[in-house]
This record gives sequence, structure tokens and C-alpha cells, in this order.
Amino acid sequence: TAAGPALLDRAARAAGARLVQVPTDYVFDGHADRPYAEDAPILPRSAYGRTKASGEWAVRAGAPDHLVVRTAWLYGAHGGCFPKTIARVAAEKGGLDVVADQVGQPTWTADLADLVERLVASGAPAGTYHGTSQGRTSWHGFARAAVAAAGLDPAIVRETTSEKFVRPAPRPAYSVLGHEALRAAGVERIGDWAARWEAAAGSVLA
Ligand SMILES: NC(=O)c1ccc[n+]([C@@H]2O[C@H](COP(=O)([O-])OP(=O)(O)OC[C@H]3O[C@@H](n4cnc5c(N)ncnc54)[C@H](OP(=O)(O)O)[C@@H]3O)[C@@H](O)[C@H]2O)c1
Repeated sequence: TAAGPALLDRAARAAGARLVQVPTDYVFDGHADRPYAEDAPILPRSAYGRTKASGEWAVRAGAPDHLVVRTAWLYGAHGGCFPKTIARVAAEKGGLDVVADQVGQPTWTADLADLVERLVASGAPAGTYHGTSQGRTSWHGFARAAVAAAGLDPAIVRETTSEKFVRPAPRPAYSVLGHEALRAAGVERIGDWAARWEAAAGSVLA
């Protein structure tokens, strides 16, 4: 239903604020071979993706001034996240297997927060934007970067496949998002994932 977002939109306007919703790459089917454009057809494959997709539509229908900012592969200093878990398990076990056939854009929560702030401050047109880093890697590639930042040998992270490492819910194989809408709005994109991880690793793994 669009009633919730419509009420939030009204409250936001009254407060001089703007409604920003943060959905996910999981709204896409994950079968693409080039970055998903902001207006690419959505086709979620999991219950999570379906609820996030219906949230997007509710916001579009109920909140005319919305900013829908899809993000993915988040990590940050607060709470649990992939690189923290990988660094801990690598130190405990001395080695681990990580899937190399799912690719995406590891994104620092601090960068996403900064991007959202800049989008709002710039008065960007209502619509859908992608808030992820540039470039791409696999979970295996990201795990190696995490292990290296923890001062361990990245070679202890071995490659595996989604077929061997089965999870209860399907995960998109291809989660690379394009950033054309940011470019069109004149809002600077987040940098390359590897350079941003270099900048973030000290505070995330502290
Ligand atoms: N993590 C990602 O890579 C990613 C990617 C794309 C989009 N997102 C979206 O980002 C949002 C946050 O995700 P996250 O990964 O940060 O999740 P998270 O770490 O599980 O955090 C969820 C937060 O929501 C709060 N919360 C949960 N149920 C609530 C309720 N009924 N009422 C009030 N607060 C409630 C939790 O509070 P407590 O701490 O008190 O439990 C927690 O602070 C979600 O909408 C998710 O779909 C995340």
C-alpha cells in the first residue's frame, strides 16, 4: 500500500525534510551481464527482494518527492558485516572457502550516508538512484581484500561456487548497479570499491 509512504512524505514535507528509501540490488534477477540501469525492469527472486520491490512502488505511488536509493553489499564499523566475519573466521580457522561466482560492489555505509546527504543537499530530482561503489568484485575478491587488511595472507581464502555453498534463499549472481542517474543529476558517485575499502578497513576492522 502507498498509504504509509504518503503519510511519511507528508510528515517529511511538514518538517522541511525529504523521504529517502533505501532498497537493494535484490529487486533485480541477477542474470544480467552489464550494470543494471536505474530503470531496468525489476524481477526479484527472493521474498526479501519482493518486499523491497513492493516498497519501492509504494514510495513512488505515495511520495511524489521521493528519493529511492538502491544499495548493496554494505559494510561498516557498527554491527556485523561480511569483512568483519571473514577476518575473524580466517584468523580462527587459518583458511576458508568463499564464493567467486557472485559479483557486486562492496559499499561502505559511511559513503552511502554521505551520498544520501549530498543527493538531498543538491535538490536532486525525485526518482531512483544507485548508491554503490564503482567497479566490481566477487565475494571471494572482497574476502581476500578483507583478509589482507587484517594482516593475513589473502591466499588462505579459497574459491568456491554457489552450487557448492548452498544458502536457503537465492542470491543474485550479478549485482552490479549503474550510476547514470547520479551523473545526470550532477552528483558525484562513490569511488572504486577497492580504494574505498582501503580507506575504510582501519575503522571497520578495529
Ligand atoms: N545490508 C545491506 O547490504 C543492505 C543492502 C541494501 C539495502 N539494505 C536495506 O537497509 C536497511 C537496513 O539494513 P541493515 O543491513 O542495516 O539491517 P540491520 O543491520 O538488521 O539493521 C536493521 C535496523 O532496523 C531496526 N529495526 C528492525 N525492525 C524494526 C522495527 N520493527 N521497528 C523499528 N526498528 C526496527 C533494527 O533495530 P535493532 O538494532 O534495535 O534491532 C536495526 O537498527 C534495510 O531496509 C535493508 O533492506 C541493506
